[in-house]
Amino acid sequence: MKATEILRQYGQEQLLRFESELTDEQKQKLNDQIESLDFSVLKNINEKPTLKKGEITPLKCMELDEINARSEELEKAGIEAIRAGKVGAVLLAGGMGTRLGSDDPKGMYNVGITRKLSIFQCLMNNLFDVVHKTETFIPLFVMTSDLNHEKTVEFFDDNNYFGYPKDYIFFFKQEMAPACDYNGKVFLEAKDKVAVSPNGNGGWFLSMMKNNLLDTIKNFDIEWLNVFAVDNVCQRICDPKFIGATLLEKRTVGAKVVKKATRDERVGVICLEDGKPSIVEYYELTDEMMDLADERGERVYNFGVILNYLFNVDELVEIVNKSLPYHVVEKKIPYVDENGNTVKPESPNGYKFEQLVLDMIHLADSCLPYEVVREHEFAPIKNKTGVDSVESARELLKKNGVEL
Ligand code: UTP
Repeated sequence: MKATEILRQYGQEQLLRFESELTDEQKQKLNDQIESLDFSVLKNINEKPTLKKGEITPLKCMELDEINARSEELEKAGIEAIRAGKVGAVLLAGGMGTRLGSDDPKGMYNVGITRKLSIFQCLMNNLFDVVHKTETFIPLFVMTSDLNHEKTVEFFDDNNYFGYPKDYIFFFKQEMAPACDYNGKVFLEAKDKVAVSPNGNGGWFLSMMKNNLLDTIKNFDIEWLNVFAVDNVCQRICDPKFIGATLLEKRTVGAKVVKKATRDERVGVICLEDGKPSIVEYYELTDEMMDLADERGERVYNFGVILNYLFNVDELVEIVNKSLPYHVVEKKIPYVDENGNTVKPESPNGYKFEQLVLDMIHLADSCLPYEVVREHEFAPIKNKTGVDSVESARELLKKNGVEL
């Protein structure tokens, strides 16, 4: 459909407000951008956030005791799968990292104290642990966005791909979604550019497909993808025991989880919804559910996800055909006002739209929640200081023997 028709359909004609001032080249650029965007996401601002409607019941987790008792068996199965080339890794690094407040991609952030140690370097070191153990290079797919792609690729290149073989690393860009004001009118970021932001981490597999990476996956004979966030510097990547456990338990998805620090910790909790795996948000858990205990006296809704999942590729191909919900997030969105002046708001002024990996879990057939030790594997960097920060991650890195 042509740009003008699209704008009429969605009531967004204001995006051509400065058309008469643009050169032919700028007009073309703006038209191309409009034609490439999905404006249907805007309808989500009128839809109330849906609380989980289905019946929530517990989903049994593979806990540390069992993992320790079956350690050898799990590790053997995982190592075999990796050595057979069945496993790939996907690093989600398309986010804007606004809370951290750096203009560079989050992965470039230096967590070192006496030496330079970027987040990307930490993750590559973690990946190397399993490469050394299995003597097998694992293909790594890195998701970026329009906002950080060039810088990310350049950083890998400048760092000689951290010693990893270059032909085992594949970068791909995620989709962008329009950003709008509180009345649903999409902003212009410049006179010739619609304001957009990355559309969340949930569209990663669709973006891989759009970038023809399904062929690469097939060429490598990859059957499983371990997808993980850029900001957890302590996480184990392609952890053989986790892979072995998911395979041996014959699940199509595995989810690393940690025991909640408190009964009401603000983390998504893994459960079943109408008999299918799902993640219930902390605010959707009633007091009664929070305290519900099993025969051992252990709380049953007690494990939170940490954005480290293993997905079977055939399952992913099915999941992308099902639709993921969009979450509407309030954000500060820089824009050009009616007079052509650029405004950088101090407080949120509109919405952006995001799909989330955690919603993919409910579209999967089966899922194995797999417990990991928080102090060893969960050091997310969201903020500069305080909870989930550079400071707290540095502490955990030190505890785990990483020299800073
Ligand atoms: P967060 O939800 O913490 O978002 O991302 P963020 O963009 O990094 O940080 P804030 O909220 O702006 O401060 C969790 C993971 O999902 C990735 C991030 O890069 C991070 O690894 N992500 C997030 C994407 O890849 N794309 C997105 O559009 C959003």
